[in-house]
Amino acid sequence: MNTSAPQQRRIKLSKEKTYNIREARLEDLDQVISINMEALPEHYPRVFWEEHVKRWGKAFLVAEVNGFIVGYIMCRVEWGWGFTKSKLLKKGHVISIAVRKEYRRKGIGRKLMEEAMKALKEVYGAEEVYLEVRVSNKPAISLYEKLGFKIAKRVAAYYLDGEDAYIMVKQL
Ligand code: ACO
Ligand code: ZN
Repeated sequence: MNTSAPQQRRIKLSKEKTYNIREARLEDLDQVISINMEALPEHYPRVFWEEHVKRWGKAFLVAEVNGFIVGYIMCRVEWGWGFTKSKLLKKGHVISIAVRKEYRRKGIGRKLMEEAMKALKEVYGAEEVYLEVRVSNKPAISLYEKLGFKIAKRVAAYYLDGEDAYIMVKQL
């Protein structure tokens, strides 16, 4: 191990409880974007991230360990026709979630989802929450299913490389 590297970079979570979930700030975006670049092929211009911090900041959360960001969830709120109810309603849309590789399978992704869904409902009045996920993304699909999401439909060639997406939905 390189001892000159910032120490928090190598700290292992000995217990799940040693991370902290809080609202994202603009200063966090360098770290958040670097997690996104490593974890997912879907990237966004910086202004897009900034817009989400400014407009839906209560549902844009980060997980941190000693000041080092190890995961994020970015959401927005939209009006649209419900998947779970036949009416026009406010929906929470999970745009992107990722956890750094070394910190996965510790419950952080689940906690980020739970806290974001709470904000989508309680702060923004969303009646349901939805997201798109690659049909091959077993870890994410199983996380969403564990949280009560159901597959609402499959969208052919949703992603740039031609892969299909599932739209998964949960009533809040
Ligand atoms: N295989 C099977 N099930 C899994 C896996 C896996 N690799 N990872 C998580 N799960 C399921 C399990 O049921 C798990 O519960 P368990 O550990 O008690 O069995 C449950 O999800 C909760 O897991 P967490 O530990 O909370 O999830 P984690 O912190 O690892 O984060 C995430 C999950 C965000 C999907 C992570 O794997 C990741 O960053 N992946 C790369 C980025 C990504 O695919 N993001 C989602 C794209 S879709 C979108 O953004 C809307
Ligand atoms: Zn989306």
